[in-house]
Amino acid sequence: MSTYLIKGVSIVGAAPTDLLIRDGVVAAVGRDARAAGAEGIDAAGLVALPGLVDLHTHLREPGREDAETVETGSRAAALGGYTAVCAMANTDPVADTAGVVEQVWRLGRAAGLVDVQPVGAVTVGLAGERLAELGAMATSAAQVRIFSDDGHCVSDPRLMRRALEYVKAFDGVIAQHAEEPRLTVGAQLHEGEVSARLGLTGWPAVAEEAIIARDALLAEHVGSRLHVCHVSTAGSVEILRWAKRRGIRITAEVTPHHLLLTDTRAQSYDPVFKVNPPLRTETDVAALRAALAEGVIDVVATDHAPHAVEDKECEWGYARPGMLGLETALSIVYSTGVLDWDGIASRMSRVPARIAGLAGHGLDPAPGVPANLTLVDPSATWTVDPAGLASRSRNTPYAGMTLPVRVVATFLHGVPTVLDGKAVR
Ligand code: DOR
Ligand code: ZN
Repeated sequence: MSTYLIKGVSIVGAAPTDLLIRDGVVAAVGRDARAAGAEGIDAAGLVALPGLVDLHTHLREPGREDAETVETGSRAAALGGYTAVCAMANTDPVADTAGVVEQVWRLGRAAGLVDVQPVGAVTVGLAGERLAELGAMATSAAQVRIFSDDGHCVSDPRLMRRALEYVKAFDGVIAQHAEEPRLTVGAQLHEGEVSARLGLTGWPAVAEEAIIARDALLAEHVGSRLHVCHVSTAGSVEILRWAKRRGIRITAEVTPHHLLLTDTRAQSYDPVFKVNPPLRTETDVAALRAALAEGVIDVVATDHAPHAVEDKECEWGYARPGMLGLETALSIVYSTGVLDWDGIASRMSRVPARIAGLAGHGLDPAPGVPANLTLVDPSATWTVDPAGLASRSRNTPYAGMTLPVRVVATFLHGVPTVLDGKAVR
């Protein structure tokens, strides 16, 4: 294993220093950090962050390897500055058994570009009828701690209660895709002015808010941990604020796209903007940004959702919901100006690592800490070219946009996965 001396780097925005990486850990920090034979990396002007951690990634393997594989998604993640991603369970077959989560976990290890932490399904086949084998997934080699039916809501309150009770035994967490399905039948975009004008069925904010309120109360009743996926409305923020003040064990994520884009994009009928939950209004975007700054929303998660061309480049009504996120997340979040480097480190690394229970991640570079980190150039810009992305899919809503901040290098357990802005493998 090589030794690296990163010179003149600013750790999370602090004064420039040197960083020695040896045997998978940060061996020394400071201007006297030296080692014979170390490979030097000139990092003047660069910022070192703890490697980013994504709580919400769709890697599509097994089942839709034409849209993404564990390897291509891992490469996209590394290029985005990530060192760990939580792989969602809505694969084919669904990750609802120890066998499937172990398969995904092994594929992640084989790719070796990020730590892939499988998420287990809450219910068998995501059907919302019977609890999956949560215990067997928790004790498997994959050591699953986050369970989610993402893509679907666990809408039966009795099942949700049982799931919350069950995971308490191993400090697990239920990550809910909050969508009351009876309120979103046939929904195509946010229910509001734009949906009315286009004459398309709307997805009302209350469908999200009602489930968050219900689940917060269930989590309180059971004394268990609840995580809310991709919060998208101002009303949801109010409920989260109330629940946190009350001491309920609830955390929440927001996606980069919900921090930037609004439902007016649907006017183009370009399905690249179709996503679930849908893009909302300026008021919602403002509330989400404020909540992230304040900590009412705990983390940014990508909801990276690659889709094959035939599932995305078709009529709006037939297109699958979802957009790419891993390679653009840091730039989009930075572009909103909501967070400084410390805020970015917290909301995109430290806190998600803690929620997921990923011990070696989310730690600022310091002596003895596993060398999972990313180096970013705050003064660089880049233009998003869908064909130039590492993801196997092309459905980015940011095509052609020039974005701030470039990931220059990423280290996973002391080994570079990205150097000079390019994937090492
Ligand atoms: O837009 C979405 N896409 N939302 C989800 O909840 C699921 C995801 C997917 O799997 O494509
Ligand atoms: Zn979801």
